[in-house]
Amino acid sequence: MEASSPTPSFSTAIRTASHEQHTEAENSAFMSHLLGGELGVAAYRRYTEQLWFVYRALEDVPQELAADRVAGPFLRPELARTVELERDLAHLGGPDWRAGLAPLPATAAYAERIADCARDWPAGYVAHHYTRYLGDLSGGQIIRGTAEKTWGFARKGDGVRFYVFEGIGNPAAFKREYRELLDGLPVDDLEKQRVIDECKRAFALNSAVFRELGEEFPRTA
Ligand code: HEM
Repeated sequence: MEASSPTPSFSTAIRTASHEQHTEAENSAFMSHLLGGELGVAAYRRYTEQLWFVYRALEDVPQELAADRVAGPFLRPELARTVELERDLAHLGGPDWRAGLAPLPATAAYAERIADCARDWPAGYVAHHYTRYLGDLSGGQIIRGTAEKTWGFARKGDGVRFYVFEGIGNPAAFKREYRELLDGLPVDDLEKQRVIDECKRAFALNSAVFRELGEEFPRTA
C-alpha cells in the first residue's frame, strides 16, 4: 500500500500557502527600511493612514455578515482596529488628520477588494480577515516595539495603539482558537482552495501598498 501523508488542517494549509509571500512582505524595501529605523515618522504616519482605509473596509461591513455562518464567527469586537487607528492618526497628524486624506491607488484597490468580498463572498472575506488580524497579533508586535523605539511613542500609547489589543489577554490562546475556527470553516474543499487563493491575493495587495509606500519614501538615512 502506498503511504499517503495526512491532509493538513486548513489553518496549516493557508499558513503554508502564504509563507513565501509573507517572507516577501516582511522583506519589502519599505518594511525593511521602516523597521530598520531608516525612515522618518512621516513614513510611519503615511503607512498608518493606509491601514485606516484597509481596516475601515474590514470593519465597516454589511450587517448581514455578522450573522453569516461562514464569516460571522470571525467578527469579534476585540479585534476591531478603526478606533485605535483614529487615535494614532490624531496623535500623528493632529485633530485635522482626516482633512484631504486619500488612499494610495494600491490601498484603494485593496480596500475595494475587501469591500467586494464583505458584500458578496463571506468566505473570501475570511481570507482577508485572516491575513490582517492574525498578522497583527503576531508580527504586529515586532512593529510596535520598533515604532516605540524609533519614533519615541509611549509604550503601548498613542501612535501604536493599533498594535495593542486591550481586549485580548492571551494572544497565543486567541490565535489557537482562531485557527480552530479556520479548521472548522463550513465550506467544501474547492471553496477552501478559493479561500487560500484569496489569501494569496490579500498578501499581493499588501505588497502593492508597500511598493507604493516605498516609492514615496525611499531610504533617507
Ligand atoms: C515586517 C513585517 C512583518 C513581520 C516582522 C512579521 C512577523 C510575523 C511573525 C513573527 C509571525 C508569527 C509566526 C508564527 O506564529 O510562528 C507572523 C505571522 C503572520 N503574519 Fe506576519 N509579519 C510581518 C508582516 C506581515 C504582513 C505584511 C502580513 C500580511 C498583511 C502578515 C501576515 C501574517 C499572518 C497572516 C500571520 C499568521 C500566520 C499563521 O500562523 O497562520 N505579516 N508574522
